[in-house]
Amino acid sequence: MSGVPAVVLVGPMGVGKSTVGRLLAERLGVGYRDTDQDIVTAEGRTVAEIFVDDGEAAFRALEKAAVRAALAEHRGVVALGGGAVLDADTRALLAGQRVIYLSMEVEEAVKRTGLNVARPLLAVNPRKQWRELMEARRHLYEEVATAVVATDGRTPEEVAQAALDAL
Ligand code: S3P
Repeated sequence: MSGVPAVVLVGPMGVGKSTVGRLLAERLGVGYRDTDQDIVTAEGRTVAEIFVDDGEAAFRALEKAAVRAALAEHRGVVALGGGAVLDADTRALLAGQRVIYLSMEVEEAVKRTGLNVARPLLAVNPRKQWRELMEARRHLYEEVATAVVATDGRTPEEVAQAALDAL
């Protein structure tokens, strides 16, 4: 398979990229791909294990390669990990793609993810860490996005519909 993916989903962890991505792919009649899942499959380890064993920088290098491969190979819906936009080369790769930023407020994020040890960036003091993450990343999501879909108080089906409407 080759060509440009139909839609790329970005946004913070827990915002529903995987759930919404699958719904969106179904409605568009295309495949779904998730770069976190690609990394886990290739490495045979969870994201948390990679963070603990090798550190965040090593994970980011794997992530950058996974995003590049997914964008080159997959024609469909691609969901990126929440931190993928931290990389300038990745942001450059997203230029010219249809990129939907699924957004949520900090309080919604705390409510949805809580204390989630499977997400290593939130292991301590989730509210403070969420605030910092959102402050550091919001402008990066906005930079790459061609559309923004707010998810607060919406079901995944409603978000998928809003994303379809935004295409
Ligand atoms: C991360 C988000 C996670 C995963 C890793 C780091 C981040 O992906 O890539 O835990 O930096 O925001 P999801 O957004 O799919 O949870």
